[in-house]
Amino acid sequence: MSESETHIQDDLTGRLHEAAVQMVMEDLKHLWFSGKSLFEVLDVVYDTMRHIIPFDRMSVAFYNEENGLVVSRWVRSETEVKRVDKGYWAELKGSSLEPILRAGQPRIINNLERHLAAHPDSRATQDILKDGVMSNFTCPLRAGNRAIGLLFFSSRHPDTYQPSHVDSFLAVADSLSLAVEKVKYIDDLAQAKHNYAQILYFVAHELKAPLASIATIGQTLTEGYVGKLTAQQSEKVQRMIANSNYLINLVRDYLDLSQIETGELRFHPGPAVDLVEEVIRPMMEIQAPAAKARGMTIETDLEYLVAPCDATLLKVVFNNLLGNAVKYGRENSKILVRLVRRSFFDYADSGERVRQYWALFSVRNDGVGFAPEQKQKLFARFQRLNHPEHKGVTGSGLGLYISRQIILRHGGEIAADSEPGKWAEFRFRIPLRQEPPLVNAPA
Ligand SMILES: Nc1ncnc2c1ncn2[C@@H]1O[C@H](COP(=O)(O)OP(=O)(O)OP(=O)(O)O)[C@@H](O)[C@H]1O
Ligand SMILES: [Mg+2]
Repeated sequence: MSESETHIQDDLTGRLHEAAVQMVMEDLKHLWFSGKSLFEVLDVVYDTMRHIIPFDRMSVAFYNEENGLVVSRWVRSETEVKRVDKGYWAELKGSSLEPILRAGQPRIINNLERHLAAHPDSRATQDILKDGVMSNFTCPLRAGNRAIGLLFFSSRHPDTYQPSHVDSFLAVADSLSLAVEKVKYIDDLAQAKHNYAQILYFVAHELKAPLASIATIGQTLTEGYVGKLTAQQSEKVQRMIANSNYLINLVRDYLDLSQIETGELRFHPGPAVDLVEEVIRPMMEIQAPAAKARGMTIETDLEYLVAPCDATLLKVVFNNLLGNAVKYGRENSKILVRLVRRSFFDYADSGERVRQYWALFSVRNDGVGFAPEQKQKLFARFQRLNHPEHKGVTGSGLGLYISRQIILRHGGEIAADSEPGKWAEFRFRIPLRQEPPLVNAPA
């Protein structure tokens, strides 16, 4: 090849390389907005980085500032991974990874056997050699001046990496680090949320039985099974029972919430639940004493419908709506509970127009209600409207959030309306079978 041919060849290789780097950067930038999960992003990084860096294994380790550890989070390899897998960790301080991460300068080791001979105590080198790796190219992931972690490219063959690979990496390092940092941040948040939900579940679960026991023992005392109480003693025990019941309700909300947050809500739909007898009536019985105490009456207008749904969960929803009407409704007024069948036209996946049947529940009470701008707060977690009229009314602000999650799980919808100062109405609907069987109303 003549000198000018060699020049053309080099020029071509250079341009091809440049084009490859540009393409990789584009791929990485798209990842910022892709909404992909951490592992999906790393899969894309794996595929795209092959255009500019050779490897038959790529792994990612994150640096945790809190404990000073670098922990491997993701490994993908063409060959079997025996030792240096997910979860492999090392202390950053004093390690050979520290200067890479701190100075942001990649490192090439092209013969790990030779490297081990020079550093016989290196546990990581021993382990990676056992995995059959011969060359290693370690790259820092940094965003601004924050150390995120390290990206390891490895090969079964010695002498795989050249200084040009360092240039390739540095060219895309910023786009890569930002893409990884963003998904890692989202992943960390999801993990934190999961941990919080698990702690919540654990605490609530442990509280439930002792609280129930306090209420039961209190009940035994007031009923005089262990000796007659004076009026004053009885009044104190009643208060103890009321407070325990308040806590039991709170604990129930927290258990539901934690299961929703971890995605572990137990959803066991029955094929044909009698909505009046299995959902509405039992909860009306539970709310009756509280309604009576506030001088309220509960009126009903019920169609006898059966629906495929989880009766236990629907009871939670209906109980909260009715309980809210009793708590936040006006004293000595009426609450109206309705259950009706409604049908709407909808489009099936096939594009066909179909008639869809729904069971529509509603609970309406007189009372202060809520203003239109408060509507969006109602179904959010831990939100209470704190109307002056409801001072002293207890609640965790979770009931409607939980209710909404349960209704969504049924493929339904929940909504609320109010005329402030006059009334409030909460409605939800769940799908019925196409040709809903009607059960006969009792005579
Ligand atoms: N019928 C209603 N009339 C007026 N305000 C209501 C009514 N129902 C709910 N709200 C308002 O919405 C808030 C949220 O209700 P939600 O059921 O989620 O929580 P809560 O009743 O405070 O507590 P929990 O149900 O968890 O015991 C209530 O605190 C109250 O301010
Ligand atoms: Mg409530």
